[in-house]
This record gives sequence, C-alpha cells and structure tokens, in this order.
Amino acid sequence: MVKKILLIGGDGIGPEIMAEAVKVLAVLRGDGLALEIDEALLGGCAVDAENNPFPEATKTKALAADAVLLGAVGGPKWDVLPREKRPEKGLLGIRKALNLFANLRPAAVYPQLAEASTLKSEIVAGLDILIVRELTGDIYFGEPRGIDMRTVNGKQQRVGFNTMIYSEEEIRRIAKVAFEAARKRNKRVCSVDKMNVLETTQLWRDVFTEEAKHYPDVELSHMLVDNAAMQLIRNPKQFDVIATGNIFGDILSDEASMLTGSIGMLPSASLDENGKGMYEPCHGSAPDIAGRDLANPLAMILSTAMMLRYSLQSEAAAQCIEKAVVKVLDSGLRTADIWEEGMTKVGTKEMGNAVVQAMRG
Ligand code: IPM
Ligand code: MG
Repeated sequence: MVKKILLIGGDGIGPEIMAEAVKVLAVLRGDGLALEIDEALLGGCAVDAENNPFPEATKTKALAADAVLLGAVGGPKWDVLPREKRPEKGLLGIRKALNLFANLRPAAVYPQLAEASTLKSEIVAGLDILIVRELTGDIYFGEPRGIDMRTVNGKQQRVGFNTMIYSEEEIRRIAKVAFEAARKRNKRVCSVDKMNVLETTQLWRDVFTEEAKHYPDVELSHMLVDNAAMQLIRNPKQFDVIATGNIFGDILSDEASMLTGSIGMLPSASLDENGKGMYEPCHGSAPDIAGRDLANPLAMILSTAMMLRYSLQSEAAAQCIEKAVVKVLDSGLRTADIWEEGMTKVGTKEMGNAVVQAMRG
C-alpha cells in the first residue's frame, strides 16, 4: 500500500535540512518505495501566511498522513507575538492533535565523533541511551494556566501560574512504551521524577513501579531529576532507557544531546498509540545560521530513517540511510558543528549529497 507522508519544513534552517531529507527520499522512491508526499505549513511561516501557527489545512493533512516529517519551527522574528500566535504553539498543537504522547530521543555517540563531545572521550565513547519523554501532558498542557492580577502579601500584583498534572492512564501508557523499548535494548529503565517535592511525580513513580510487574525481564530504577542531570554528565553510560515526563524530558534530552558532540546529529520520533508518528531533529530552527548552507542535515536525515522504521515498516530503507551516514562520517566529511582538525568541512547541501551518494554506492 502507498504510504502518505506529510513534509513540514517550518522555519529557520528547517526548509534547508528538509531539502536534504527529500533527496534521500527520492533515492528510496527511485528504488521502488511507494510514497505519496504532501507539504504543509507550521510555526512562524504559517503565522506569516495564514496568521495561525497551526492552520486547519495542516491539521487535516497531518491527520490523513501515515507519518509527518518536520524540520523545525520558531525564531526571534515571532517572539513578539502573543502566546497563542507563537510558532511553538503550532508544534505543541500538532503533537496534541495527533496524540503523539511518546517521544523517543536516542543519544548515541558515533565512534567517529567521540572527540567532538565537550566531555572526555572515555566518558562518552560507546554511549547509547534512549530518552523516552512523555509529550502531551505535564505542566506543558496543564490547566489552569495564565498570568492574573491577585492579592499576594496584601499587595495587588501579577501572578504567573501553571498546573503540573498527570493522570494514571497517561503515566501508564508511557511506562509501557519505555518498558517495551528497553526489552529491545539492554533491558533497563531508569524512571526520572521529583517525588521528594511533587505529588504528580509521586504518582509517576507509583505507576511505573506497578507497571514494572508486567515486565519482569526489565530492571526498573528510579532517580530524582536533579541527580539524573548530574549523573548524565558524570557517567552517562550507566543508563539504558531514561523515562520521564514532558518538562524534565525536554531539559534532560538537550543535556544528553551534547554528550554526543552535537545536537545536530540527533533524530527523534513522536508516536501515538498506533505507531503513527511525527519525526523531527532534536535541534531547533537555528535562525542565526539559517539560509547560509551551514546547518548539519544529519539529524533530519536520521529522523527520516526513524520514520521509515517506526511508521512505514521499511527497516531495510532505514538501515540503508543509517549506513550511508556512517560511511559519510568515515570519509571525514563534517559540517561546522562537528568539524575538527584534519576533517573536511562541508555545507548542508554537500553533506546531503554525500549521504545520497553513499546510499547509491
Ligand atoms: C523540544 C522543544 C519544544 C518543547 C519547544 C520548541 C516547544 O524544546 O521539542 O524539545 O519544549 O517541547
Ligand atoms: Mg527542547
């Protein structure tokens, strides 16, 4: 059956890196992969065109697609807009609309890039961890929220408030994803919370502990988030799967990305209950380097591989892309973010072309 995919380039470097992913898809289509491809707007470009960061047409197309491939959204240009018009609202909106509750963010160190990390290479060499981040709950979506005038300490003043909230059901479904993922890896889940302070995360810990009984082959441990942030830098290889909520996952996944040398290398998948997903690099829209052929397209290209694996059931195509990326790194080509002495510095397009070449070769 022909699979439908929706491409959303977005803002900043998004369209540039998407163009390289499209080249990769063209090779696979040439080899017989049946794909129907559509495009849509999201984020700042959608605000510019339609005064809405998540237009109705994008929602309709995304709901109809088997998978969505996303570049990046956001940029300083739109920072002045009210909250509901901000590009991030588009991203959060599409995650919620598609019910993409399970965000998989692998952080693996390519042997070729072990020196690119700011940490000592012996700390990161061979690292392969997976962060499973809950993506549609927590303080990100909790109600009530806002900025109101209230009387505090006898004084009328502005008060900002958000609500951290998780239901048992939301925690259980992400726990299952984490345990299932661990089963295919090294069979260890470390659940990260702040149960010494926050009731929400006490429930998180309780539900993970309950759910672990259904996975006797997987070892569950618990860690407080402040300690986890420290342990990730001290000895990241102690982890296999890290499972955590939306806000802690946001922070820890940025931290974990730097263990690998560059956030420009990291793909991600956001999945619903049926394996439909949206795939995007972990990095943002990098407006400072947009339009200059400087961005590293590998996270985008590796996100494309994840899409083929998880939503399009094309494991062979996914591996073809991943092997090509390894070949290109072996050949010494590096974009600026991962460049080091003795390597060949290339731009976005040249990197994409090299991957295409390696897939053919
Ligand atoms: C991410 C990003 C988003 C998030 C922003 C852009 C809303 O930081 O995907 O990690 O916080 O989830
Ligand atoms: Mg983030």
